[in-house]
Amino acid sequence: MSLRNGGHVRWAFDLSGWRPTLTDLLLATSCIQPEEKQRLAKFVFRDDFNASIIGRLMMRRFVQLATGLQYDRIQFGRDVKGKPYLKNEGFMVDFNVSHQGRYAVLAGMLTSGDESLELAAMPKIGVDVMKIEYAGGKPLTEFFRLMNRNFSDEEWRYIRSRNHESEQIEAFMRNWCLKESYVKNVGVGITVDLRNISFTIKSNILSRNNVICDSTLKVNDEFMRNWRFEESLIDENHCVAVALENVPPHVDLSQNCFEILDYSELMEGNIPLLANDVSYCETVASKDYKKVK
Ligand code: COA
Ligand code: MG
Repeated sequence: MSLRNGGHVRWAFDLSGWRPTLTDLLLATSCIQPEEKQRLAKFVFRDDFNASIIGRLMMRRFVQLATGLQYDRIQFGRDVKGKPYLKNEGFMVDFNVSHQGRYAVLAGMLTSGDESLELAAMPKIGVDVMKIEYAGGKPLTEFFRLMNRNFSDEEWRYIRSRNHESEQIEAFMRNWCLKESYVKNVGVGITVDLRNISFTIKSNILSRNNVICDSTLKVNDEFMRNWRFEESLIDENHCVAVALENVPPHVDLSQNCFEILDYSELMEGNIPLLANDVSYCETVASKDYKKVK
């Protein structure tokens, strides 16, 4: 595994194929910080535990690869809105994690060698993955009506302009994913009025092997010049969007498809931070999965 052009990584981990043994769990839970271990203990279902811990392990592996920091010396914090960041100082990286449906994903990049840049001009990244499905029970038109305040008029026109219901669901999920990737980049959670964050989609079809980079964004009617968006599919049921701010135009993002990582690749080069905790892992192992995905 290595960094791509411009120091980017795009990783996806297939959670549906991961049923860790006790040995796997012992290692995974010894490679996260104590406060995260405590947070993870609160999940009722294994699915949520698995998704979240894989996200944490992806962050650590990415930072190790991107900075050369020793694995067990990497320290993450969370800002006031809960967004994880690297606490070790002097390293120019940014990353973000998302998990939904089958996948946990990480988008990460080296930010810049130019330490004179103001904080506001530093490149930043946000990512969101969405399962493309509608399982709401209600007719789709009713669901869209309930969701009205989450999208601008222009976005609704695009979603409703698609011919078939399945295409409208795909357009809805894709728009949601774009918006979430932006919100997650900014790190403001859901405190922004979502109708004022409006995307213009130009290419109708997403695919696995090709990254679409031509969707654009207006916030409060102002075109957001310094922003670029990557969109692709991880598989036919999962779309993913990456929101990048201040990434120079010459950096080619079109090859940034997500690569699937397995557990051994994820754990490569690990050095445990914590001692094995058998009783913690037995409790985790006793939790139920919601359903077979
Ligand atoms: N900003 C960016 N990333 C954040 C974050 C924040 N404020 N808070 C947490 N994260 C990171 C964490 O790594 C988190 O993983 P963890 O929970 O295992 O620690 C991960 O992002 C979660 O991302 P994702 O799986 O995509 O979760 P989400 O889509 O449910 O929520 C939020 C993302 C919390 C950042 C936020 O945007 C939110 O509350 N969303 C609710 C959904 C919504 O209304 N979206 C409207 C957009 S259309
Ligand atoms: Mg999400």
